Formats: sequence, C-alpha cells, structure tokens
Amino acid sequence: MMTKEQFIKEIEAHKHEVMNKVATDAWRNKYHIMAPMGWINDPNGLCYFKGLYHVFYQYSPLDAKGGLKFWGHYTSPDMVNWTEHEIALYPDIAADVDGVYSGSAIIHNDEMYLFYTGNVKHEGNHDYILTGREQNVIMVKSSDGFNFSEKQVLLTNEDYPKNMGLHVRDPKVWEEDGMFYMVLGARSVDDKGYVLLYQSTNLADWKLLSVPAGGLDDMGFMWECPDTFKLEGKDVFMFSPQGIDAKGLKFHNVYQSGYAIGSFDESKHVLNLGEFDELDRGFDFYAPQTFINHDGRVIMYGWAGVPDAIEHRNPTIENEWQHCLTLPRQLVLKGDKIYQLPVDELKAMRQSEIAMNNLSLGEKKEIELFENYAFELNLEFTNSTKFRLTLREDLKLSYENGIFTLALGESGYGRDERSVAVDTIENLHIYSDHSIVEVYLNNGAEVFTTRIYNKEIDQNLVLEGEGQVNLVKWQL
Ligand code: FRU
Repeated sequence: MMTKEQFIKEIEAHKHEVMNKVATDAWRNKYHIMAPMGWINDPNGLCYFKGLYHVFYQYSPLDAKGGLKFWGHYTSPDMVNWTEHEIALYPDIAADVDGVYSGSAIIHNDEMYLFYTGNVKHEGNHDYILTGREQNVIMVKSSDGFNFSEKQVLLTNEDYPKNMGLHVRDPKVWEEDGMFYMVLGARSVDDKGYVLLYQSTNLADWKLLSVPAGGLDDMGFMWECPDTFKLEGKDVFMFSPQGIDAKGLKFHNVYQSGYAIGSFDESKHVLNLGEFDELDRGFDFYAPQTFINHDGRVIMYGWAGVPDAIEHRNPTIENEWQHCLTLPRQLVLKGDKIYQLPVDELKAMRQSEIAMNNLSLGEKKEIELFENYAFELNLEFTNSTKFRLTLREDLKLSYENGIFTLALGESGYGRDERSVAVDTIENLHIYSDHSIVEVYLNNGAEVFTTRIYNKEIDQNLVLEGEGQVNLVKWQL
C-alpha cells in the first residue's frame, strides 16, 4: 500500500514527463472539464458548498488508459470558470487500496460529507466468490471542502444482501424528511442488475431498508451509478445499466445510461419503474450524476466517455490524456420525459454574437464559422422537414423522413452514425469544443454527446434542405 506522500511524489514525477505533451495537444478542450493529465471518468461528489460548485471525478493520473482511481477535484463560483485543486482522495488505506471509486456528496450542518466505494481486489474471482473483492462504503467529511477527515468505513460486503455478487458500489446519498438515504448499484450472483436502499439517522450508521428495484430480465447484469431525485413531484431513477441489448435505434453503446420514472411504494419501499430510456443518443455518455442546486434546479454532469469502448480509439491517449465531462445540464420533466438544458450560466461564455435570420435552406449555403472549434450555434427551423448541416470537416447533422442523424467521418475515430426518431425539428443547439460536440435537439428533448478529433480547422458550415432557419453563432 502506498501513502499519500508516496503518491504525490510519483504523480509529480509523471507530470514532469508528460505535461508538455498534454498541454500542447490541440484536442484539449476549452470549456469542458478534463483531467489535468491521464484519465477521467465519472463525475463524483457534485455539490454547491460555501459559495463554490465542487466537481470531484474519477481520476487516473498515472495512466491515460485508466488504472488506479483517485478523486480529482475542481471548483467554480459559477459553473464556467474552474480551478484545479490537489487530488482530494488517494487510495491509501487497506479498505480502498485498489481504487477510490465513485460516490456522492451531501451537505449537512454546514459540513460536506463525501461517500464513495473503496475497491479492494484479492486473489481469485473478482465477480462472485466472497473473498475475491471488497466494495466498502467509506465516508469523509470536511468543513471547508478542501481538507478531509480520516476515512470511516461504513459498509462492507457483510452488509449487502447475500444474493449479491462482488459488485456493489457508487453510493448516492440524500436527505428527506429528516432522514438520510443511500442507494447503491449492484450485480447479483445470477447476473442481474439491482439497486439497494439504505437508511440512516446520522450519516454514519446505515441499515438496509429494501432492494427497491432490479432483477429484470432485459435490464442488464449490473446497475452502476444509481441516482434518484424528484422532478415535478415525480420520482426519477437514473442509472447506468450494463448489458442491455440494442433495440432499433436505441442502446447502441457498450453500456447505457438513462432513467425511468418510478412510483415509490412507501409501505413496501419498492420502486415500480416505468420504461427505461437513455439520456443521450451520442457515442460518448455514461455514469451521469445529479445534484440539487441551492435554487432548486436539478443539475447533471455526465462522463463524455463509455467504459470498455475500445472500438472508439481516442487519439489523445498518445498525448497522455483521455476523456472529459459533459457540460452541466439542468433536467426538466415534461410529461414523463426528461429534457436537458445546458445551464443558463454558460451564456456568460458567449462572445461576438452574429445572428442571421430567415435563411432559406432551398439553396446550399456556406457560412463561415470561427477560427477555432470552441463555439456555440443555435438554429431555429421553420417548415423544415428535411435538412443537412455539415461542419467541422465531416460532422453531418441531418433530418429526413422523421429521423435525425448525427454522422461522423474520419474525425470520429470509429464513431459512425447515431439516429433518433422525432416528429419535427424546431431547433438545434450545438456546443462545439476542440474535441467534443454536444447537440441539443428540440429544447433538449434529445441530446447527442460525441467526441470528435479533427485534424484541420474547417471554418465552414454548409446548410441545405427545405424551409427556413434563424441562426445565431457565438465564439466561446
Ligand atoms: C462507472 C464505474 C463505477 C465505478 C467507477 C470506477 O463508470 O465503473 O461503477 O465506481 O466507474 O472508476
């Protein structure tokens, strides 16, 4: 086992070796959160505390292909300007020696509490046999958000139902009516995904309340990163199930992330789930987490990446870094569907606004964009049943016969195309950064998040189709 001081030394030495490569890579993004070097995956511990937004994240500083996990740390006063801080949590005790895995934050009595999974691998089988792996729920607290108390192990394998295997993790904690609750994602010995619900009066002692959902035949073998919150008075259950088969245009990533509207039966502590749908139709979205902002907004960040997606080789690995997070998105419920809106705060990034109204799509149009790929576009369509937009060399966004498609050429590095059926297209809101695009359709009814690795800067947007469009562009 290594101490924090030993890790700091090793990470400093590695930084010395790779930082020049990372810092000079043209694919580093301008306004998406990335690890300073190495690998980033899930957003963790999201919260607003004493005037700052905190984003912790799964961080492998020493290996751009992923490896031992730490919690990296950024803060921001406004969700736009971010400050990097030293690593918040190191795998430096026996109970988390093979990784400080994902978890969440809760603010209570003016203190920040972080809950995470301590991963421990022993000799033998890491999935089923009781001795092969430990997944411990561990808590630390902090009165300033930067210095953390000693780690306290709260739950171990002994505390999980006996029919669960060795994958039980990713505590998400919240408070309701003076009581604390925690959900954990789990995989049973017969390879079904589950969620476990624990209850506590003091954040330290937890008891299993129920296994509110899981065991479904067509819902995968493991439910990672469970999260639950209310929108418009309805219970939303968000999770990242592994092992769902593709169905028509849906579920084409290796693993999925999505939600179902539930109704929670208070007497039996059972969550009856409605239909599951994915949150994002793009190639790069997984392990989202929400937090409830001080103004009541439910805000989500996702990992712009997918585990085990080796078919999408990210060329940044050679430059010693990989992946990023999505923009913060406000979640809104209309009917039983979640709409995702980039948070309003992001408007502060806008520079040099140019608006063009009533462009007829009948004849092909070329519009010059900006001298780099950090920009935002908003397009409002009228009478447009068919169109095609080409930008960034080979990114094509098209709509025809009720199907919207995002397609990539060489810049996709293996990402080809993804589609969704929509009755009409009212608008397209596009956030483009040096190596990622987020496309929001019809006020966030559908979202596509996709990494893109262009070799050249192509400043033209080519538009063709039917109907009219009002277009606004901003450099970011
Ligand atoms: C999801 C996940 C979590 C786990 C973490 C480890 O991407 O597999 O279940 O806690 O990543 O980095």
